Amino acid sequence: MKIAVLPGDGIGTEIVAQAIRVLDALDLPFEMETALVGGAAYEAHGHPLPDATLKLAKEADAVLFGAVGDWKYDKLDRPLRPEQAILGLRKNLGLFANFRPAICYEQLVDASSLKPELIAGLDILIIRELTGDIYFGQPRGRRTAVDGHFPGADEAFDTMRYSRPEVERIARVAFEAARKRSKRVTSVDKANVLETFQFWKDIVTEVGKEYPDVELDHMYVDNAAMQLVKAPKKFDVIVTGNMFGDILSDEAAMLTGSIGMLPSASLNASNQGLYEPSHGSAPDIAGKGVANPLATILSAAMMLRYSLNQEDAAQRIETAVKKVLAQGLRTPDIYSAGTTKVGTVEMGDAVLKALA
Ligand code: IPM
Ligand code: MG
Repeated sequence: MKIAVLPGDGIGTEIVAQAIRVLDALDLPFEMETALVGGAAYEAHGHPLPDATLKLAKEADAVLFGAVGDWKYDKLDRPLRPEQAILGLRKNLGLFANFRPAICYEQLVDASSLKPELIAGLDILIIRELTGDIYFGQPRGRRTAVDGHFPGADEAFDTMRYSRPEVERIARVAFEAARKRSKRVTSVDKANVLETFQFWKDIVTEVGKEYPDVELDHMYVDNAAMQLVKAPKKFDVIVTGNMFGDILSDEAAMLTGSIGMLPSASLNASNQGLYEPSHGSAPDIAGKGVANPLATILSAAMMLRYSLNQEDAAQRIETAVKKVLAQGLRTPDIYSAGTTKVGTVEMGDAVLKALA
């Protein structure tokens, strides 16, 4: 089992270090190799996704990814910015299916800004299409407008597009996932305005006929954003495009109180995957030893489950995480009165102890 370890920037190195300790403790035959990515790779090699890093990722069964980005790179040309590393990995590895669970842990219901009764027991799975849509659609760029409201003015444009096979395959991923849960899928679109998303809705409906045991409904993205804060527990599996999924998954993450708890998986057609916490590089707290490593540790669990076929080991990690929460240990992002505040390494220590 080959794992490419790409810690990246900011808190990335600190949280990935804890996940590695947990993986090591499982005593499974992993081969792990680390490489630079994001701003760290730009500093060392002049590019956020050096060829050697991409090659390592391609040859691995799974990639364990920390986070990339720092404000200091915001002025670089777009192709050199740290975010291009994650976009490049998604594209080059064909990681079209992004799983972002939003689970509210019983011990953390008070960490949410919503009323406890709205989010207690929350367990949503957002499935975001990850290699298409306006993120990757060509053409894009800047030019002089020849029509529109201001002909002759400078303008910028991106292209929102989806092909039939792209929508079919992500729809199937969602229906299959729903079969293993409560058999409900909500497809989120903007079919009332966008041609791309009327097409999306039509195709999801078609694919849905192959899954008569799964209940399918459709919701416009603006309404979905509203329902997520009004009655989040009404959702089970949400499937949506790349851009809507980006936005709704941050919203759903925050319902649970801390984005520091949420893992994610990005898979291609052969179940090769990239696993990363749903949060970013948090440069404001980097190097202070206070980042929550649990999202990364839980991402490692997802990696064991989806790409490495080690369900038992995945469950061992998830049980250990629940145990440390039950013990009352909290990093500052999930701290509340009456619990014990710990740092990144102490949290890692506690998970290791709970595993043993
Ligand atoms: C995410 C992030 C990325 C995205 C950025 C860093 C390119 O926000 O994974 O959700 O927009 O997909
Ligand atoms: Mg995002």
